[in-house]
Amino acid sequence: MSEEQNQVELVHCIYASASTVSFTKDEITELLAIAQRNNGALGVTGMLLYEDGSFFQVLEGEKETVSALFKKIALDKRHSKVIKIIQEPIQERAFSNWTMGYSGITRYELSAIDGLNDFFTSKQCYTDLDQGRTKKLLEAFKSGKWRTSIK
Ligand SMILES: Cc1cc2nc3c(=O)[nH]c(=O)nc-3n(C[C@H](O)[C@H](O)[C@H](O)COP(=O)(O)O)c2cc1C
Repeated sequence: MSEEQNQVELVHCIYASASTVSFTKDEITELLAIAQRNNGALGVTGMLLYEDGSFFQVLEGEKETVSALFKKIALDKRHSKVIKIIQEPIQERAFSNWTMGYSGITRYELSAIDGLNDFFTSKQCYTDLDQGRTKKLLEAFKSGKWRTSIK
């Protein structure tokens, strides 16, 4: 029986934040290893973007689990200005293959997304995203083209 048929209340929580330390590639890899191990045990999937000192993360899973995980992540001192942009029920997971997929996609690449050109060619970063732009960004990753950049 699928998760959806099994009456699990599935949600996604999408937030952005600003890193308080500059992450090296090794530090991101280490963070991801912990996230992937924990999320695997919790049944949480999603993706993380890191670009020019700002994070964008999608967490998908059972409502209470996702809310508790978000609270824990928000307390992490390695980032601040943690802004929850969207938390809402979803029919199915967009990132079911990733306990936490990661992409260091650049601002230049992001500016190719329909409707986000102005945003990413200006000085704005993930923490400036509103709900409408967040949905456009999410759609771009859900549709084939950008998925290949998620590792
Ligand atoms: C931007 C960012 C994203 C994170 N994402 C996750 C995550 O998806 N899952 C997770 O367990 N920890 C995540 N963490 C790390 C947690 O804040 C915390 O350090 C970690 O869960 C502690 O793991 P432990 O309880 O196994 O020691 C993230 C931290 C940051 C700064």
